[in-house]
Amino acid sequence: MQVQLKILRYDPERDQKPHWERYTVEAEPTAPLLSLLHTVKWEQDGSLTFRRSCAHGVCGSDAMLINGRNRLACKIRIDQLGSKVSIAPLPGLRVIKDLVVDMEDFFAKYRSVMPFQVDDGPMPARERLQSPEDRARYDDTTKCILCAACTTSCPSFWAKDSYVGPAAIVNAHRFIFDSRDEGAEERLEILADADGVWRCRTVFNCTDACPRGIQITRAILEVSSAIVERRV
Ligand code: FES
Repeated sequence: MQVQLKILRYDPERDQKPHWERYTVEAEPTAPLLSLLHTVKWEQDGSLTFRRSCAHGVCGSDAMLINGRNRLACKIRIDQLGSKVSIAPLPGLRVIKDLVVDMEDFFAKYRSVMPFQVDDGPMPARERLQSPEDRARYDDTTKCILCAACTTSCPSFWAKDSYVGPAAIVNAHRFIFDSRDEGAEERLEILADADGVWRCRTVFNCTDACPRGIQITRAILEVSSAIVERRV
């Protein structure tokens, strides 16, 4: 089928402001959008700039605003989008060029919630054991690939970009509810800040945007509840 792509382009070294450019590409209906972007770049306009790596929904590098929704270009097929597709960079982040955004602030927020296991006890002779039930407690939030689709679809983040955002909270959740971890108190203290979990307005945009199907709003509410329970 013939697909018309409308892509928001911006080269800060050349353009005053972003502008739309249009391309027509022949594609199989089952093709992922990423392969059409490759066709444009390799056959029509080598200056088109976007991130991608695995092409299998694992690395999280090709999240973008596709037909008005944040999605991974490698996971969404043309037959899910139709013959006219608009593509823009993730909203709310500084554009470096075309579909490439500056992720540094996003990763700084991720790092701020201590996304690693804290355990200062003596090293066990073998691995730190955990029951299947305890492992299941945080299974959902282990699936995050840090694509930023959730945080950049959140109206609270658009309104105040100091909000730590859904992705950072998801990654805090993954350790807060890990029975082997001892850093929960510190993480909950960080997320009790004015720019922490309280900025969530349960709009569910993050949950809708997540390409891994993580129940993000529920995870945020579980972290909020944990903060309240500890204070009580
Ligand atoms: S290219 Fe890795 S998630 Fe799409």
